[in-house]
Amino acid sequence: MLVAVLGLSACGHEDTHPGQPVTKRKLVFKQMLRTLEPMGLIVRGKNPYDSAQFLQLATQLQSLSTQPWQYFTPDSNYPPTRAKPDVWNKPAEFKQAQQKLVAATDQLANVAKSGNLDTIRPAFGAVESSCKACHQQFRGIPH
Ligand code: HEC
Repeated sequence: MLVAVLGLSACGHEDTHPGQPVTKRKLVFKQMLRTLEPMGLIVRGKNPYDSAQFLQLATQLQSLSTQPWQYFTPDSNYPPTRAKPDVWNKPAEFKQAQQKLVAATDQLANVAKSGNLDTIRPAFGAVESSCKACHQQFRGIPH
């Protein structure tokens, strides 16, 4: 946590673009990671499974899953973004990748209610795959 806070303030780049879309989407993605990671530890047996806590994380991720996309505005391809030009050149495919994540997180939040880790595990795997698939296609090195 401390590292994350220092990382943010030490960077010093101020986003001077109207509405700060790059800053805002990065923030949502970071929050997504912060809910994904603790669920990953539970699913992999590194942390104990508490069904209420897991459901809360899954519900959080479900609501976060729809939020970054509004910040990929036409004029938001500026440093330090890692978004590839394909975000803007292949909007239909980018949209499809978003919808995969939304569907996968809906499904995860749904099965999280079952309280059964054996059904949660594959649903969590599908969420992770949809993060990775989109990053492979649409996220590159900072520019
Ligand atoms: C539809 C595509 C897509 C999906 C799905 C997606 N991401 Fe991303 N993600 C991106 C793009 C594009 C960026 C780069 C944003 C930028 O730098 O402007 C990014 C950046 C990030 C970052 C870096 C933020 C930063 O501070 O630079 C994290 C962390 C992240 N995503 C986590 C996740 C997690 C966790 C999931 C799944 C729960 C996920 N993403 C799903 C497209 C996606």
